[in-house]
Amino acid sequence: MKTIGIIGAGAIGSAFATALANKGIPAVIANSRGPASLQDLVNKLGPGIRAGTREEAAAQDMVLVAVNWSKLPAALAGLDLAGRIVIDANNPIEAPLFKPVELHGRASSEVFAELVPGAQVVKAFNHLLAHLVASDPAAEGGRRVLFFSGDHPGAKAEVGALIERLGFSGIDLGPLSLGARLVQFPGGPLPALNLVKFG
Ligand SMILES: NC(=O)c1ccc[n+]([C@@H]2O[C@H](COP(=O)([O-])OP(=O)(O)OC[C@H]3O[C@@H](n4cnc5c(N)ncnc54)[C@H](OP(=O)(O)O)[C@@H]3O)[C@@H](O)[C@H]2O)c1
Repeated sequence: MKTIGIIGAGAIGSAFATALANKGIPAVIANSRGPASLQDLVNKLGPGIRAGTREEAAAQDMVLVAVNWSKLPAALAGLDLAGRIVIDANNPIEAPLFKPVELHGRASSEVFAELVPGAQVVKAFNHLLAHLVASDPAAEGGRRVLFFSGDHPGAKAEVGALIERLGFSGIDLGPLSLGARLVQFPGGPLPALNLVKFG
């Protein structure tokens, strides 16, 4: 399995890294403060996950971005993600005020996509609380559900395959214009639903 890049090492970035580490999938994870600040995290996650720069994370074929909404422009500035699969795990709301961002009717993923020109954006890993992304997806006798959506069939197939490999049950919600709205928090009907697929 190829190394996956992770930009953002907070609640959701480190939960995703934990899920990868649990299945032996290598990753390079980055934050704003540099690799040295991530040593404790990567020591805890084990040898498959290493700390890197934003640029190193962005150089991987598949890159998950999990950064506070208002910090996304700075986190993605100067990175060339054209042609890469970029997973948008972000929501347009942030602590401490939790005031929804004005999106002027657009899906947040459509706004996000403009920050990563040429990338193949897949919306995923944004609709469950971080601790559920990090914990065992084998739950209640079934497999925890993760939704994904996007406009690039090949990219979506790869993210869907990753979701299955992590042990979750993936559900393809179609294009970004539809699927990203369904999982968007706030506004969509699906976020925070902890669903399990049986059989
Ligand atoms: N928390 C959840 O349960 C959850 C669930 C689903 C989706 N989400 C979404 O996921 C995204 C991240 O949320 P979170 O809860 O993980 O936030 P968080 O715990 O505050 O972590 C944010 C991360 O972004 C990094 N970051 C900020 N500016 C950066 C920059 N310029 N370059 C690189 N990295 C930068 C921070 O690094 P530094 O600390 O070094 O600045 C930190 O590692 C948000 O859009 C949120 O809506 C969160």
